[in-house]
Amino acid sequence: MKKVVLAYSGGLDTSVCIPLLREHYGYEEVIAVTVDVGQPEADLKEAKGRGEKLSNSYREVDAKEEFVRDYIFQLIKANGNYEGYVLGTAIARPLIAKHVMEVATEEKADAVAHGCTGKGNDQLRFDAVFRTSDLDVVAPIREMSLTREEEKRYASEHGIYFATEKRWSVDENIWSRSIEGAELEDPSFIPPEEIFQWSVSADKAPEDAEVIKIDFVQGIPVSLNGTKMSGVSLLKKLNETGGKHGVGRTDIIEDRVLGFKSREIYEHPAATILLEAHRDLEQLVLTRNELKFKEFVDRTWSELVYQGLVMDPLFESLNAFIDKTQERVSGSVYMKLEKGVARVVGRESPNALYSKDVSFDVKQEQKSAEGFSMYHGFQARIVRRFH
Ligand code: ARG
Repeated sequence: MKKVVLAYSGGLDTSVCIPLLREHYGYEEVIAVTVDVGQPEADLKEAKGRGEKLSNSYREVDAKEEFVRDYIFQLIKANGNYEGYVLGTAIARPLIAKHVMEVATEEKADAVAHGCTGKGNDQLRFDAVFRTSDLDVVAPIREMSLTREEEKRYASEHGIYFATEKRWSVDENIWSRSIEGAELEDPSFIPPEEIFQWSVSADKAPEDAEVIKIDFVQGIPVSLNGTKMSGVSLLKKLNETGGKHGVGRTDIIEDRVLGFKSREIYEHPAATILLEAHRDLEQLVLTRNELKFKEFVDRTWSELVYQGLVMDPLFESLNAFIDKTQERVSGSVYMKLEKGVARVVGRESPNALYSKDVSFDVKQEQKSAEGFSMYHGFQARIVRRFH
């Protein structure tokens, strides 16, 4: 009996994959796996209902805590950012792929499958992780070059129905929400307010600003306003609070791995707040040299995550460096949330490299700076003398 395990979201693409895997690829048993990384309850429920009906066996894996602990926290330490994108979808894919492969091994399946098209980044991210195993990798939508219209027709022929016609294609997890498709693909199209669900528009945000305090221990956010919280609850709370103030909307032109430029819209209040706060704390406790070098490490880290190349040995090496630097990144950051903006308004740390006393001493004795200053710009002065 030929068996395949499918990464299943419950949407049109992955739902169409189930009958396709049987009819066009000859798999007799299709196991659908939904990995919960914090998508809306309603989506999970829909996926379960549809998955149980269509597949031979359906499973849901709750990976929320693992996602935050092993992936999102590392992203914060690495100041994860690709062209302004906080990498929400990108960083979830390897975790989803990992759980799908685990089920495949348990079930002694012959193959793993995903429903990505041949246009985006997600196909590359799933494939790169899937191909670290000996399993066959199947991507029906990409291989058959199906258009959305063809998929819809095929779905209704196979009794797959969707209650509401979805205008936008949304990918959501606890870190970010991405909205694409239809008119949004035109970079000049101004998005209607209805596409946003996690945040209000800045002009609708309350007049009164809110100041919050976030504590970090070794690069990881551990409490909000003095209350210790699990990673999952902290993110949920910050998404709520930030969203209420209109924080965390991004509208960018993004360079996809394949080279296409694409227009992307995201919302991610918690990510905006935590990334701002973390970067600021690093600025207080890391040396100038560390900061300069880490900027390059962070950028390379983010590119690997964007490309889905987290199994590259370089990724592990970068993480080792990042973890070492984070040993001193503990302290508190005060952020003001106001009309769509999250701004750092204060920070403190037992490891701060800023010291009022030392700066004061140096100021008392300004004359010793004269020697330093004498050599400052020395080479440039010599060059100028010849020209
Ligand atoms: N452009 C982003 C990325 O490459 C978001 C993709 C959203 N994916 C989706 N299937 N809707 O990570």
